[in-house]
Amino acid sequence: MQTQLTQLLQIKYPIIQAPMFLVSNVAMVKEAMKSGIAGCIPALNYRTLDELRAAITELKSAKVEGGSFGFNLIVNKSNVKYKGQLEVLCEEGCDFIITSLGSPEETINQAHKAGIKVFCDVTDLKFAKKVEELGADAIIAVNNEAGGHRGQLSPQELIKELIDNCNIPVISAGGVGCRADIDKMLSYGAEGVSVGSPFIASIEAGVTDDYKQACVDYGASDIVMTERISGTPCTVINTPYVQKIGTKATWIENLLNKNRKLKKWVKMVRFSIGMRATEKAAKKATYKTVWVAGPSIEHTKAILPVKAIVANLLS
Ligand SMILES: Cc1cc2nc3c(=O)[nH]c(=O)nc-3n(C[C@H](O)[C@H](O)[C@H](O)COP(=O)(O)O)c2cc1C
Repeated sequence: MQTQLTQLLQIKYPIIQAPMFLVSNVAMVKEAMKSGIAGCIPALNYRTLDELRAAITELKSAKVEGGSFGFNLIVNKSNVKYKGQLEVLCEEGCDFIITSLGSPEETINQAHKAGIKVFCDVTDLKFAKKVEELGADAIIAVNNEAGGHRGQLSPQELIKELIDNCNIPVISAGGVGCRADIDKMLSYGAEGVSVGSPFIASIEAGVTDDYKQACVDYGASDIVMTERISGTPCTVINTPYVQKIGTKATWIENLLNKNRKLKKWVKMVRFSIGMRATEKAAKKATYKTVWVAGPSIEHTKAILPVKAIVANLLS
């Protein structure tokens, strides 16, 4: 399974354990590296820059041949810690950064000076062309089967459009839960896959057992889109609580969103409130079961160690 991604990151298999807010952690990435794949953690999973620095130090000393590690940076204004996080990543070093939401220009320039590769989340050709021009090393093509903030195009449509029009490697994100899915994405022309949801139900994940078990008990047909977390549609498991609160933004949010001056602030406040609520649902036993996951949990049959999840993906 040698591809441009395995060459870029010096990994054994063309798989990235995708960054997941609140879920990804050092323990998962260590096991990912030992399994011959890359692992990525959102920088936002660390409250302070010192905690981020400590995570990098631990991963650097745990790095083994055939594995690699990186961090995800939210590069738009909703992330007030962005500048500090970028500085720490460049000072301490990591193999790659995945950027999301916003222009990756500064990240690409700074990271490249530090010898770090930059992959950028995109959902359409226009943005892909932009990040290619800015010097991105690869594109993460987020399709309409992804968990979290998904794209609009099917895996096949998106990959084809990008490989026909861009010259950097395309890594497909979304909808991969088994070997056949990996082979399918590679046959469409992707150089690798970024896999998130199937790793939620891992022993190492830092979320409650209820959340992990829900990924086992529910399947693809239980995933719905909700605007109730951050305002931006996001995939969640359709638990009785989600059914009770509904998936549409409230009338008051819609009203505030229509006001152009207020819109930016409403978005930032909404984002922060939503993230705190999701954190409670993911990390504490609560009746407010709003759990983010994508349809690829269909293949999740048990809570397993990361190593076993990788082995299942490859078999
Ligand atoms: C629980 C969860 C949290 C996520 N958090 C982030 C995040 O913080 N940053 C990001 O760029 N993508 C995030 N994603 C998207 C993943 O990185 C990846 O693109 C997606 O999981 C791929 O789809 P899959 O879940 O079908 O594998 C998240 C996805 C999930 C399921």
